[in-house]
Amino acid sequence: MTLISQRLLERLTGVAVLFVGLTLVGIANADTIAMIGTGRVSGALGPQFAKQGHTIIYGSRDPARAEVQALVAATGGQVSAMGQVSAMGQVEAAAGADIVVIAVPGAVAVDVVRGLGDLSGKIILDPTNITTTADDGFRVHAVDTSNAELIQAAAPGAHVVKAFNTLNYQTMINPADAGGPVTIPIAGDDAESKRMIADLAEGMGFEALDLGPLRYASTLEELLVIWVNARTLGTPFDYHLRRRPAP
Ligand SMILES: NC(=O)c1ccc[n+]([C@@H]2O[C@H](COP(=O)([O-])OP(=O)(O)OC[C@H]3O[C@@H](n4cnc5c(N)ncnc54)[C@H](OP(=O)(O)O)[C@@H]3O)[C@@H](O)[C@H]2O)c1
Repeated sequence: MTLISQRLLERLTGVAVLFVGLTLVGIANADTIAMIGTGRVSGALGPQFAKQGHTIIYGSRDPARAEVQALVAATGGQVSAMGQVSAMGQVEAAAGADIVVIAVPGAVAVDVVRGLGDLSGKIILDPTNITTTADDGFRVHAVDTSNAELIQAAAPGAHVVKAFNTLNYQTMINPADAGGPVTIPIAGDDAESKRMIADLAEGMGFEALDLGPLRYASTLEELLVIWVNARTLGTPFDYHLRRRPAP
């Protein structure tokens, strides 16, 4: 059952839909996820989400390309009986999805979202970053607010969640190789959407941490700026925000 059909059923019945048994719980959590773009982040997150039983649709400007077909085949190897994998155009992929991942270069992300059609009711997962390089070689954030807020303005009926922008794609492929726990900071205005994205991150072995409304996405995007600058300085790190024990 997809997120959207579950929400519809909940509206009709007026109560949360409860499922008993592992199989049914798995089906309740299985969504269709459109990965817009087929580069490094899509190639890392798509297989990871497929492993969790979700249906993956890659949205590409050229879905017939050999690299895209290879990604579909590689993702298919991760798929459980529930999930399926395919590739199609970006608009078609988004249209059929519950969750739309904008895994495209940060500078084109807002225009790409505008071109995807009506995304109302869907979750948009925004892992993008948009930076420029200053004269001294260090990165600076390139928009006044955040890409996530600009994306939200371009798709006002969608639930934008900022996440997965503060780590390298290789860590997404092999979270266990990070040498310790890694935090996925999350920002967004819809609690249920953030919970679903947190579930995806935790399903990969990360620690998800809700850092508040979408207006804090600018802080998350700045976290990436200093993360890149630390690499420039020769001191790469991963974010791990240790939770304090409950008082
Ligand atoms: N690389 C990382 O480690 C990393 C980590 C966290 C977040 N991010 C952020 O995640 C986003 C994706 O990064 P990436 O490294 O995956 O980028 P990438 O390897 O360059 O892949 C981006 C994909 O977007 C599509 N694309 C490129 N130009 C486009 C355009 N003008 N219009 C529509 N689609 C276009 C392409 O797919 P098709 O050719 O199939 O259309 C391309 O493969 C970026 O915003 C980046 O800042 C990156």
